[in-house]
Amino acid sequence: MNILVTGGAGYIGSVVTEECAVAGHQTFVIDDLSKGHDRLVHEDAKLCVGNINDGALVTALLRDNQIDVVIHMAASALVAESMARPELYYQNNLVAGKILLDSMLEAGVNKFIFSSTAAVYGEPEKQPIEETDDLQPTNPYGESKLAFEKVLKWYEHSHDLKYVALRYFNAAGATQRCGELHDPETHLIPLVLNTASGQSEFIDIYGDTYTTKDGTCIRDYVHVSDLAKAHILALDKLETGSATYNLGLSGGFSVKEVIQAARRVTGKSIPTQVSPPRPGDPAILIASSDKIRRELSWEPTITSLEEIIASAWQWKQRQKQVVGPSSV
Ligand code: UFG
Repeated sequence: MNILVTGGAGYIGSVVTEECAVAGHQTFVIDDLSKGHDRLVHEDAKLCVGNINDGALVTALLRDNQIDVVIHMAASALVAESMARPELYYQNNLVAGKILLDSMLEAGVNKFIFSSTAAVYGEPEKQPIEETDDLQPTNPYGESKLAFEKVLKWYEHSHDLKYVALRYFNAAGATQRCGELHDPETHLIPLVLNTASGQSEFIDIYGDTYTTKDGTCIRDYVHVSDLAKAHILALDKLETGSATYNLGLSGGFSVKEVIQAARRVTGKSIPTQVSPPRPGDPAILIASSDKIRRELSWEPTITSLEEIIASAWQWKQRQKQVVGPSSV
């Protein structure tokens, strides 16, 4: 298949691109490199530096390369930033997404895989969360992704779009060649590892009075390569119709448990400091992944938190050799 990955130079996008290329698909990436890194794009994939807002560019890219499927990963994806700048999230996640879909219509491409998020659920009443549970986002990030899921539903109805929406829980870890390298970094595991390696003095624990077992937030961490493999399975699903799936391991770890696991993996002390809760953060997000396991036979291969953290730690050591200690 010929596949276009939007945001394919980003953390998750680069791993999805890698999986597509390794699976033998002709893979193209469009990324404006505002957050991504061109060196993370797999060598067998072709990178176009550009923005999906540019409808003419995207239409030409789709037509010239006879694209069969678009995997849409270009997005703004930070809960706290979305609380401060909702306009950015509606622009990048809803308006730009619609321009992308319209370019696809123009070029006659009707298959689509969408990176959605657990943030569409808000503060769920029960755990693990099923796809049919209430959708009540508590932040503009989740709202913008949910709004786009609704756009997909109506494009399916009126324009014969076939789509799979994957609601990611917390992607984590690294592959041999790709890992997490945000600037600024806001995610827990890379920040914990920055503390382990001495780049930061301590890791902030954002709130320790949540109603959880140890007072800190609980998340479902899924290894980025298992998450990426689900996209390959979703390609087949597109042949039969549209669907929405959670993507998580169906287990949860608190912030304190993540830090404790990182101490075991790295052998470092990792000092902590308790800080106020981050606005918009739900207390607990754990996926039910029954549906994707049942319907797409998705089977995660890396299931221990230590293994996930170890992969990120090893990648960080390798990066120090590639780009120098100050960059990672
Ligand atoms: N956290 C800290 N200290 C830090 C960073 C994070 O305590 O320095 C906490 C957060 O408050 C949260 C947990 O660690 O409870 C995980 O935070 P991350 O920033 O790593 O991830 P999020 O859960 O905020 O976000 C992730 C994805 C989003 C997705 C969301 C679902 O990045 O795209 O999960 O809520 F929407």
